[in-house]
Amino acid sequence: MTATNAPIGIIGGTALADLAELESAEIRDDIVTPWGAPSGPLARGHLAGRPVCFVMRHGPGHKLAPHRINYRANIRALADAGCRQVIAIAAVGGITDVMRAGRIVIPDQIIDYSWGRAHSFYDDAEGGLLDHIDFTTPYDARLSDALARSATELGLDPAVGGVHGVTQGPRLETAAEIDRMARDGCDIVGMTGMPEAALAREAGLDYACCAVVVNKAAGRSGGAAIHAEIEATLAQGMADIERLLVAVLPA
Ligand code: HPA
Repeated sequence: MTATNAPIGIIGGTALADLAELESAEIRDDIVTPWGAPSGPLARGHLAGRPVCFVMRHGPGHKLAPHRINYRANIRALADAGCRQVIAIAAVGGITDVMRAGRIVIPDQIIDYSWGRAHSFYDDAEGGLLDHIDFTTPYDARLSDALARSATELGLDPAVGGVHGVTQGPRLETAAEIDRMARDGCDIVGMTGMPEAALAREAGLDYACCAVVVNKAAGRSGGAAIHAEIEATLAQGMADIERLLVAVLPA
């Protein structure tokens, strides 16, 4: 990663509910942006010697459903805190065979199936002069490469590249929906990747996703219960992601 004194924004999801390694964190729970309040407090501290700003996407206690998250406020709060780069952590379902439970994935593309979410800063005067952002490559290549390299060095065997299909949730998908997503070319499925990635681009932030597969997607599990698989995988996934963050930040 590019050495900079700007804090690195980290958005923690189901796969990283809090950041135990964050040193001497200053908690700001009074932040209100022109788009409202972020999901929860912003924790500013250091991770592996680098300044970091951490926000829990689903808020304290994991209470906010994917369609209720104020993605605009989260991104704006990180930008206002001085972040120029954001690493977004996500728990996802695996659609293709190689996306097995426990695998770290650094996706390089998105298909957005979510709807009805406040998905742009260009909504009223607060957004400034309208810009149709170029979203051909939704994730920042350098940040994604750094994550992939560190994950490989740690022996985590990451899947590098892949299409992240983003559904509305909070329910899981039907088997037919997953079949359709597979035909569309999706490799993994999650509920929170959009509009977050597009808002980060609108805000001028370099944004990459670090996903961990916590279950086989609906209809792909051979009858195994999805929730049991998520439970069994999540703790190791969180530990791997935390190790990866510590490894990638100083680079
Ligand atoms: N579908 C959508 N989102 C998810 C899944 C899934 O199977 N697993 C974790 N997040």
